[in-house]
Formats: sequence, structure tokens, C-alpha cells
Amino acid sequence: MQNKTLITATFVATAAMVLSACAAPTAAPAAKPAEPAKPAAATSAPAAPAASTGKKLTVLCTVTEEWCAVQTKAFEAKTGIKTTFVRLSSGEAATKLRATKSNPEYSVWWGGPADGFVAAKQDGVLEAYKSPAAAKISDKQKDAEGFWTGVYVGALGICSNQEELKKIGMPVPTSWDDLTSDKLKGKFSIAHPATSGTSYTTVWTQMTLNNFDEAKTLAYFKKLHPNVFQYTKSGVAPAQTVGKGEAAVGIVFSHDCVAAIDSGFKDLVVSFPKEGTGYEIGAMGLVKGGPEPVEAKLWIDWALTPEAQELGGQAKAYQLPTNPDAKVHPRAVKLSDIKLVEYDFDKAGKAKKDLVAKFEEQIATQPK
Ligand code: F6P
Repeated sequence: MQNKTLITATFVATAAMVLSACAAPTAAPAAKPAEPAKPAAATSAPAAPAASTGKKLTVLCTVTEEWCAVQTKAFEAKTGIKTTFVRLSSGEAATKLRATKSNPEYSVWWGGPADGFVAAKQDGVLEAYKSPAAAKISDKQKDAEGFWTGVYVGALGICSNQEELKKIGMPVPTSWDDLTSDKLKGKFSIAHPATSGTSYTTVWTQMTLNNFDEAKTLAYFKKLHPNVFQYTKSGVAPAQTVGKGEAAVGIVFSHDCVAAIDSGFKDLVVSFPKEGTGYEIGAMGLVKGGPEPVEAKLWIDWALTPEAQELGGQAKAYQLPTNPDAKVHPRAVKLSDIKLVEYDFDKAGKAKKDLVAKFEEQIATQPK
């Protein structure tokens, strides 16, 4: 019942509600509700991007190509700064930033789960920037030192092709255990956690559900492995794979399954694991020593405004905005209906390199 509701319902949750939803996890004590933004004389003015610097900006972009295009076009129209983008999944973007650390090619990294930014901060590839516009964003959705700031929120969901499920006589999965069913042998689609932030969110969700027991977490993915049709590079790709019927079920951020439905894959349905699911704070950060620091800061200021955060719908990007003044898209998933795990972005980010290496050693190497 919940599955059908989630496809068609009018979703109204705000990012603040997300935080109250994650205040009721299974294992950890309740988190405090989001604090209101602290007024600060120097930071209370709304972000107003300056006129053109006459320069250009290349955004390292980790959301969908479609959304990267809408967002960069709007920024260019607003500021006159010639803006292009390169789309890379979270893990690929982080690898690129590490590889070019001594001579950075990009100045701003926009999109992808915050734990990837925690890891990048540790790698020394980001620079602190506390945008005046970040005063509007809850303290829980930004780094206290300004190395990353949240721009959107979304939860992991199970994306199933109802026609394919009928063929194998399986109901819509509603638990993590369901995904390991023999019926799904070779019919399950997931991205690889070395390249995809979505997939790493799945790994950390299992860590949380398994009380941070690494062996149990890896055992879950070993059990899931025979079902995996193919580990994709990008986190969004499983929604397409399942939509086309190449696999019956996939794990993606739920907004990506809703977007696939709206793109014409009408057999798809979203459901959520009853044990609890993980979620992302989609973040952005300034690249240390990047070639376009002025333009990059203007991007960050602008990306936090309601105007910028309301653009996603034009690209079927239905994440929840972090700016409480931004309108929530009617197709956004209502997170207050979902059981979320207590997702610790800092802990997840710090564990990322080691956990991903173990995944590669014990389960599967990353797609080339
Ligand atoms: O834009 C779609 C999206 O799912 C974002 O919500 C998310 O931050 C990003 O893609 C993750 O991409 P990937 O899993 O490829 O790193």
C-alpha cells in the first residue's frame, strides 16, 4: 500500500522535517530538532550574486546531467559568468580531486552525499568557505568549519519493475532481506560504492543497521552479490536498468526512481525497507586552490538561495531543499512517512576509504 502511495502522493516534507524524522531511529537516542538559523549581522543578508566577473566557471557536478545543465544555465543567466560542468559520480569526483590536488582543474564541487565531502575534507582537497547564505541552513546540514554545505536531502528507496516482479512471482520488496531472495538472482541492480555516493549510502545504512559491525555488513553484501546483475558506476543508473526490465529491482535514491517514472518508465514503483533506510544530505564545497575561486564562491552563495534550490523540478530532480524558504516540489518524497536510520555523515565519511577498499577486496572491484 505504502509503495503505491509513494509514487503518486503529494510530498510536502521540508528538510527540517527530515531531521525530525531522523530523530526517531531504532538504535540511537533521539536527535535534537533542527535549530533555527542563528541571526548574524554579517551573514543575514540574502545572497545576491554580483554582476559578471567576466570570467568562467566549470562546476564539478555530481547530480544528474539534466540537473547539472539546468543549474549551470540558470547561474550563467543570472551572473553572466560562462558556466559549464563536468558530471562525475561521487567517488570518481573525489578521485579526480585527489589526483589533481597539486594543480586543481575545478573550483567548486556541487552535489553528492555529504559523507563524500567529509572524506574529501580529510584528503585536504577542500577549502573552508562559510557563505553568508549558509546562515539559513540548519547546523545539521552543513560542516561547522565550512568545508561543505548541504543543498538538498533525499532518502534511499527500492525501485522495482512490477512487470518483471510478476514474471518471477515476487511481491514488491519491503525489506533489506527481501533483496537477497534467490528469486532475484541476476536481477538486482546497484551501483558500486567506490564510484557512487548512492551506493556508499547503502553500505553505511547497512553498517548502521548492523550496529557498525563491519563483518556483518560485508556479509550482507556477499549474500546480495549473486543477485547483482551489474554494478553500475553511477547511482542513478539502476533506475534505468530496472525501468528497461534488464533487472527487476534496484536500490537508488527514491527521487531518482520517481524521476524515472516521470520519464516514462511507468512499471516502476518505489518502496522502502521496513528496517529503516539511509538518506543523504546532498552537499557542495569549495575546491582548495581551484582556478576560479571568486566565481566558485558566487556559485555557492547562489546555490543556497530559494531561487536556485527550486530549479530541480525542471530537471525532474525532486530532492528536498535545505533552504527552509525554498518551495518543496509536489513530487518530492514525503520523508516523514519513512523510517530512517540515524545516519552519521561524519562517521560515514571518515570510514569511507577503508570500507570501500574492503568492499573491493571481498565483494567486487569497481566497474571500469
Ligand atoms: O542527482 C541524483 C543523485 O541521486 C543525487 O541525489 C545524489 O547526490 C547523486 O545523484 C549521487 O550520485 P552517485 O551515486 O552517482 O555518486
